[in-house]
Amino acid sequence: EQEEEEEEEEEKEEDTNNTTDSSSEDDDEEEEGDPVEAADVRSAEEEKAVEAVQDKAPEKMLTKELCNKRKPQPAVFIPVDRLPEIQAARLKLPVLGEEQVIMEAVRENMCVVLCGETGSGKTTQIPQFLYEAGYASGDGIIGITEPRRVAAVSMSQRVAMEMNMSTRVVSYQIRYEGNVTSDTKIKFMTDGVLLKEIQKDFLLQKYRVIIIDEAHERSVYTDILIGLLSRIVPLRRPMKLLIMSATLRVEDFTENKKLFPRPLPVIKVDARQFPVTVHFNRRTPTDDYVGEAFRKICKIHRMLPPGGILVFLTGQAEVHSMCRRLRRAFPFRSNRGSLIYLNLNHFCIYKLNISPFGDEDRQAGIGDEEDGSDLDLELGDDPGDEGLEKCDPMLPLYVLPLYSLLAPEQQGKVFRPPPAGTRLCVVATNVAETSLTIPGIKYVVDCGRVKKRFYDRVTGVSSFRVTWTSQASANQRAGRAGRTEPGHCYRLYSSAVFSDFQEFSEAEITRRPVDDLVLQMKDLNIEKVVNFPFPTPPSMEALVAAEHLLVSLGALEEPPRDMERVRLSCPITPLGRAMAAFPVAPRYAKMLAMGKQQGCLPYVITLVAAMTVREIFEETDRPAASEEENAKMAQRRARLGQMRRLWAGQGASLLLGDLMVMLGAVGACEYAGCTPKFCQENGLRYKAMLEIRQLRGQLTTAVNAVDPEARLYLDAKMAPPTESQVLCLQQIVLAGLGDHLARRVQVEELLDPKWHNGYKTPLLDSPVFIHPNSVLFKTLPDYVVYQEVLETSKMYMRGVSAVQEEWIPQILPRYCHFGPPLEDPPPRFCPDSGRVKCHCKSTFFRVGWPLPAVERD
Ligand code: CDP
Ligand code: MG
Repeated sequence: EQEEEEEEEEEKEEDTNNTTDSSSEDDDEEEEGDPVEAADVRSAEEEKAVEAVQDKAPEKMLTKELCNKRKPQPAVFIPVDRLPEIQAARLKLPVLGEEQVIMEAVRENMCVVLCGETGSGKTTQIPQFLYEAGYASGDGIIGITEPRRVAAVSMSQRVAMEMNMSTRVVSYQIRYEGNVTSDTKIKFMTDGVLLKEIQKDFLLQKYRVIIIDEAHERSVYTDILIGLLSRIVPLRRPMKLLIMSATLRVEDFTENKKLFPRPLPVIKVDARQFPVTVHFNRRTPTDDYVGEAFRKICKIHRMLPPGGILVFLTGQAEVHSMCRRLRRAFPFRSNRGSLIYLNLNHFCIYKLNISPFGDEDRQAGIGDEEDGSDLDLELGDDPGDEGLEKCDPMLPLYVLPLYSLLAPEQQGKVFRPPPAGTRLCVVATNVAETSLTIPGIKYVVDCGRVKKRFYDRVTGVSSFRVTWTSQASANQRAGRAGRTEPGHCYRLYSSAVFSDFQEFSEAEITRRPVDDLVLQMKDLNIEKVVNFPFPTPPSMEALVAAEHLLVSLGALEEPPRDMERVRLSCPITPLGRAMAAFPVAPRYAKMLAMGKQQGCLPYVITLVAAMTVREIFEETDRPAASEEENAKMAQRRARLGQMRRLWAGQGASLLLGDLMVMLGAVGACEYAGCTPKFCQENGLRYKAMLEIRQLRGQLTTAVNAVDPEARLYLDAKMAPPTESQVLCLQQIVLAGLGDHLARRVQVEELLDPKWHNGYKTPLLDSPVFIHPNSVLFKTLPDYVVYQEVLETSKMYMRGVSAVQEEWIPQILPRYCHFGPPLEDPPPRFCPDSGRVKCHCKSTFFRVGWPLPAVERD
């Protein structure tokens, strides 16, 4: 149940990569001179810009020669032919009243910050103001970044509609799709897409204005973009930067001397917000907040006057389960009185009569289940008919799900008025918190939780956990109830709990490893990442760890050995550039970059896809409710174990271990046509298998883009790898997961009987173990690499693969302790390489590059 938010987060990460290069379509001619010369000038400018980004003193780059290269354009007015009803609706929006103030500030300043409540009209109106003021006439366009794909797509469509213009002019670009043309004047995109464009054209020549929307969300890419733009914009006068935020907490941008030498002007738009009465739960909160939310919705629907309900839950799975429950509790009745009952458990429709809402709306109820994307739930947590007893089906409840990965047509439904005679109920994740405004909401039900990624620096494990949200977020959620009339917010927790909430959610960048970011920045030639003007810098520890990992992966050049203080300024290597092009974490990108040996690429792609999609196997270790169930589970476990051993094969392929099981599982599943039935019978998560298929397609495209000679095409069905391919795969895996190397504890090292069969890793003091579910549980190889360590009853390694000892010095020299040969135990030489094998007890210390003392200067 935990992956879906992961997708939401990963969506952002992946966005930086593989943007289809629509940019090349757009004309972006130099104004004067011969193109060759112009290109030279630009590259010098670009160099200065790159230098500026890593320079400590922002003032320095404001040199005369760079400023005023283009003359400011005279104030103009480009008329827009809007429909009268649109014009009337616009006039009610709070930002309309501030148009002059905003445009004047934009004219007079390079960078402006705009704060306004969600729904005040920032996203839809500001681009229009700028368009009318001529910022998109001539050769420049207006670019707007959103942290979420949902917003980029739906806002571009909304603005096109309001301006009565084609989507050729008001367009969007998200990771793999977009409708940008050479006529595009206003371009909505995800922040990752713009970051990728900076990689191609550091000065963003084709933009006249960049708007960073939803800056308060503090997404990693938004933060980095603001850092980059703080240097790019001064070099591109009269380019403008607008930072828009739904909260007033913008000091990290405005008062940050590292970013902008002078404080930025902040314009506040007062939204007309109706009062919202907040109701706290009296009871101590339970873990069953979904059930609690369900009961609350039933109560509101039965007892309170008309008005839409917006429910905040934490993830896609919960959203779907709630929608199902509500639809059962309040089924639609057709105008002829016959019951329309959707049996959502079996993806088929019973007694479906003509709906009073027309075909389209009937699909609203059915469509999102039909795609089967939520299968694991359908098979698993069925809430039963509990709801039917508790609520009377009176007024039909028009239930719509809303989350990031929902298909855009489905998302669009929340903006349209609900069918007459129904009450709208939107079940959403925190995507509805600020980026989208749903009209007609009067009641908000807030579970108070949010799903967040947690990362443990020691074990390197990241996990998704549901935690309490922040006070700021809870208040944003409540605010959704007061857009059109006074509203109510029902918090499913007590006020005491609320006062213990964090005041604000921290910037994402402080909560996660930054190896992928550092790689992206180095790919932008920003070598001194420490000096980068982050709105909130990641911890030094995280930066050092990232730089080390990237050096050890060969993505960055190794610093000179005698350098005492490494200033985190290792330049990127050609390998690093290739790795930066793949939309996966650097460890996996390394495997892809090394995969072109002995025809291994399709297998590497599959492995990387399977490792990136979490939890591909069904959970079989749950404690059972009864003896009988326990016996059944044990039987199933045994059967699935057998299946896994079958997939792992024998000999060399068995040594690829759990990774071979993943390969075998994907291969077998694809042979069987990837059906829900096959997955269910073999303990595979259907949804995960579908994702793996999709990701394999994306990675194949990415590999072809990096290396056109590879000419790969995706054949879902794979023949099993040959023995030499398996050996090759093992080495590729070792190269990628090298920092997750573990060595079996030797008998003479057994300090504690509990260490028996344990493994030593460089980072942990206590040993880690091979899980009984692993196919290598009985083999116990001397050296293994693992995907991650998960702490349950013991510290267990997951995704274990065996490593041959003699590969280590060759593939991971920097993790080895080479001569002079130690006396005890006797040195062992590798006859092939002529080098000393890593052999001593402290094998894993890196002598080449001891952890340096790094200072930020
Ligand atoms: O960006 P901000 O939250 O300030 O507001 P916005 O997204 O520009 O929305 C302004 C208004 O447009 C809201 O009141 C929405 O209800 C409305 N809107 C809409 O009706 N349909 C959309 N697809 C988007 C916005
Ligand atoms: Mg907005």
